[in-house]
Amino acid sequence: MALKILLADPNEEWISSAKKFLEEQLYEVDVVTNGKDVQLAMYNTKFFAVVMNIEIKDHSGLQVLRFLKTNYPSQRVILVHKPMTEEEKSFSDEVYDEEAYKKLGATEVLGLPFEMDALHECLEGHQSLGDVMQSLDKKKGQSEVEEVNSEDDNYTKVKIDEFYTAKAVLFDVFIKLGTGRYLKILHAGDAFSKDRIDKYKNEKKVEYLYFHIKDRRKYIQYTNFLAEKLIDTKGIGADKKLSMLKNVSEKFLETAFQEGMKPQIMEQGKQVCENVYNLIEKDESLFKALREWQDFDPSAYSHSYLTTIFAAAIIKRFEWQSKTTVEATAMACMFHDIGKMKLPKELLEKKKEDFTDEDWEQYKKHPELGAAMFEGNRTVGNSVQQMILQHHEYFDGTGFPHGKRGTKILTLSNIVCCANDFANTIVETGEKPVDALKIFLEKHDQMTRYNSLIVECLIKSFVDPAKIIKEHKLPSNSRLIASKKAS
Ligand SMILES: [Fe+2]
Repeated sequence: MALKILLADPNEEWISSAKKFLEEQLYEVDVVTNGKDVQLAMYNTKFFAVVMNIEIKDHSGLQVLRFLKTNYPSQRVILVHKPMTEEEKSFSDEVYDEEAYKKLGATEVLGLPFEMDALHECLEGHQSLGDVMQSLDKKKGQSEVEEVNSEDDNYTKVKIDEFYTAKAVLFDVFIKLGTGRYLKILHAGDAFSKDRIDKYKNEKKVEYLYFHIKDRRKYIQYTNFLAEKLIDTKGIGADKKLSMLKNVSEKFLETAFQEGMKPQIMEQGKQVCENVYNLIEKDESLFKALREWQDFDPSAYSHSYLTTIFAAAIIKRFEWQSKTTVEATAMACMFHDIGKMKLPKELLEKKKEDFTDEDWEQYKKHPELGAAMFEGNRTVGNSVQQMILQHHEYFDGTGFPHGKRGTKILTLSNIVCCANDFANTIVETGEKPVDALKIFLEKHDQMTRYNSLIVECLIKSFVDPAKIIKEHKLPSNSRLIASKKAS
């Protein structure tokens, strides 16, 4: 069953082209050209979203907006308007901008002129997993395979063994035949066929499946949902849970880095962080998986995930830890190096050993550049920005960008710093985390970078809590927490 959209706009030409476009995206569309008809349509039908131009007459756009807010407060309303110029604002008694319309009940505001894709993105951004499933045109079997030619930049990949899908495939799935050449092996709505996937994996030795980048949101949404269920399931190893979270967090980071930190994308990131929190909180056998886990590669996304997991594992050992601190730290870990995007490509391609003094000066700016990218971002709090800013400040005062020392550095920032350095050691040595830990701890000159309690907590995250409780004859309900508050 398709999701229903009500389009309300006085411009009949625009409305018919928008209707055609949205129907091609499998929405069911009703159209009206005046305000009274919006209200009438609302009595008769339940809409997924109302897309309304504020210029609508015969019950003005503002009147209809008030009507919707009062009578249908949970209705998604995408308001279309022509933004006021600075001159118009100075002559007008009342300024109507995005913020003002949102106060009046609009969920999203689109400024004219905009591309139809922006409207599509906006509608998709508000779909829950249930909406996605509902809008799917489900088929009984599988459609025929089909060759498609399209630019490689339009596709993203996942390992064939790590591809998760519902019974009905949520979006088209491809294998790559060559540059710009893909074979659509499953169509959106097809019943999922493990046999078909296994055939490609075993007979054709296919390692990756591909899907269109416009479908990344659906993939993240679904994998987040599965990760949540998996984390709650007893009897499934923590290594599987860690790998699924890695999969979804990497795809989330890829989206955020390529499309920008848009609110809808960041909301998905919050769910990833919540899953990180649930995993470290609920899984008693996590320490085992952390010792042995080797499902990582040298990519920046993989590094960010390793940093996230070890920072969360460290925080878990502190008495003052809470869901909020773990989730905020997880978010900061994922984006700690985002400022590097603003550095020249040539610098990033250079090895650190070859850095000149000038290169170092430039490199040391990345924490500030990263923190600035979160300026005014309402989805993440100020603490995330602070952690990104301080992730290279060292406890002994030798860090950057400000050479802060000791208690001048936030404990959470120092945790991110320690987890970041430890993640680097794991990737550089290629050892299992438990072996990389020994190498890390032997870097004596580096250990003064961190509050010693943080290092203590890192070590404890590798130890079976039950064993320590037994050895130290602690009460069985003890948490393995840091012995005193970190400063
Ligand atoms: Fe960094």
